[in-house]
Amino acid sequence: MFEVVLIKGDGIGPEISDAVVEIFEAAQVPIKWVEHQAGLNTIEKHPTGIPAETLAAIEKYQVALKGPTTTPIGTGHKSVNVTLRTTLELFANVRPAKSLPGVRTRFDNIDLIIVRENIEDTYSGIEHHQTACVAQGLKLITRPGSIRIAKYAFEMAKKYGRKKVVAVHKANIHKITDGLFLKCFYEVASEYPEIQSSDIIVDNACMQLVSNPERFDVMVLPNLYGDIVSDLCAGLVGGLGVAPGGNIGENSAIFESVHGSAPDIAGKGIANPTALLLSSFQMLQHLGLHKTKLRIESALIQTLKDGIKTGDLGGKSNTKEFTKAIISNLEPVLEDEFKDPVPLRIKSGMLKTYKEVEEYCHGVDVFVENPKGLPTMPEQVDNLKLKMISNRGTKVYPGVMPKIWLVDHHRCRYVATDANGNYMNIGDEEIFDLIREISAAGIKWMHIEKLQLFDGELGYSKAQGE
Ligand code: NAI
Repeated sequence: MFEVVLIKGDGIGPEISDAVVEIFEAAQVPIKWVEHQAGLNTIEKHPTGIPAETLAAIEKYQVALKGPTTTPIGTGHKSVNVTLRTTLELFANVRPAKSLPGVRTRFDNIDLIIVRENIEDTYSGIEHHQTACVAQGLKLITRPGSIRIAKYAFEMAKKYGRKKVVAVHKANIHKITDGLFLKCFYEVASEYPEIQSSDIIVDNACMQLVSNPERFDVMVLPNLYGDIVSDLCAGLVGGLGVAPGGNIGENSAIFESVHGSAPDIAGKGIANPTALLLSSFQMLQHLGLHKTKLRIESALIQTLKDGIKTGDLGGKSNTKEFTKAIISNLEPVLEDEFKDPVPLRIKSGMLKTYKEVEEYCHGVDVFVENPKGLPTMPEQVDNLKLKMISNRGTKVYPGVMPKIWLVDHHRCRYVATDANGNYMNIGDEEIFDLIREISAAGIKWMHIEKLQLFDGELGYSKAQGE
């Protein structure tokens, strides 16, 4: 018997959760629900919307099925989901997109899974005002984070019998950050020769998805592209009512539908439980109960084929009628159905995250403010020579000034090279000297970035089109 935390949530949450519980009971799934609360109905006593005992239960039982929870607008707690995701280090957002019979869409044979890195990238929220005109956000891609999400995608593909994993990126532009993501992907891919691996640039991936989505199997993406592409895929297979998801960490996993608490229809008994039911299928797979997943999935598909649907999908059934129809289509339990479940878990011990690398600092980018045009920077301080100045990424010095808008934020690149033009390793003292001289010249600097080379970490070198 598995023990699973059940959080019914609020709005339509309790109605659709009850539907799933009823279907699981009828299907004799060996799960004991451990019910806890989160969301609006806890907020009086727990301002975060997540009681400590709920969090403790998820950590203890490691698997949760969660109904949607309302996030108050303007005031109150931040999103319960975001808090759970970051508190429990739920690093993978896994969202299958599969065509369902009776759900009208442009394509009818989509069966893909999005594996989105859930924590890093621009979502670290490290943003700063730089000058009066310029704001900056950091995109953080890490080696351990990229290895871990790739490993999850390949392990999942292997367990679920998937054939292809494609990494989605923009490493032609983000050569170092997405380049690192891609490099880690191929490192992991080499451990799974039985699974086809390839990569595709995110804009091309979007175009292919809306013209030829059948070609995709498992897609693994950094956070921001994953956020956007997963919603695109949800739209391809019929939208919110049929979009499931799982947030998965090394220790805990929470499965829930993509849609929210639908306050406009809450309490009316007409909510569609399909998305939460599909999320529960992911949960069954996560627990290793693959045959049970297939059995309940067949009942759902038969129900939809029979034209029994809730109003949001153009049908006439209410939540209870739809639930009953699924139950009536359930096949009996198979003889060995619950035998030897193999749960899908990624443990840090499985990851080769860190590499011994030598590190070289051969220069700095100094970001300075000058609203009046090109700043007059010192040409050389110690070994550091001014190599170029760029404005919004376009080189403006030396050479001909391009016809661009100059904003008040300039990147001044200083590099140390020897007489033969080879990079020299510099120390912090040389950087301090440079900054002191820039300050003494009355130039306002905002921040500096060391220019570092790591062995073999020089970004995008491998472009294997799909
Ligand atoms: P929503 O997804 O709750 O509703 C959007 C529209 O889709 C509504 O017209 C709703 O009636 C319909 N809808 C959604 N799920 C449905 C279902 N299962 N069956 C039939 N119709 C369905 O999005 P909205 O209105 O923007 O958000 C409402 C609340 O939910 C907000 O407080 C939001 O923060 C929260 N939310 C919670 C999520 C979660 O807990 N996972 C995810 C997204 C939003």
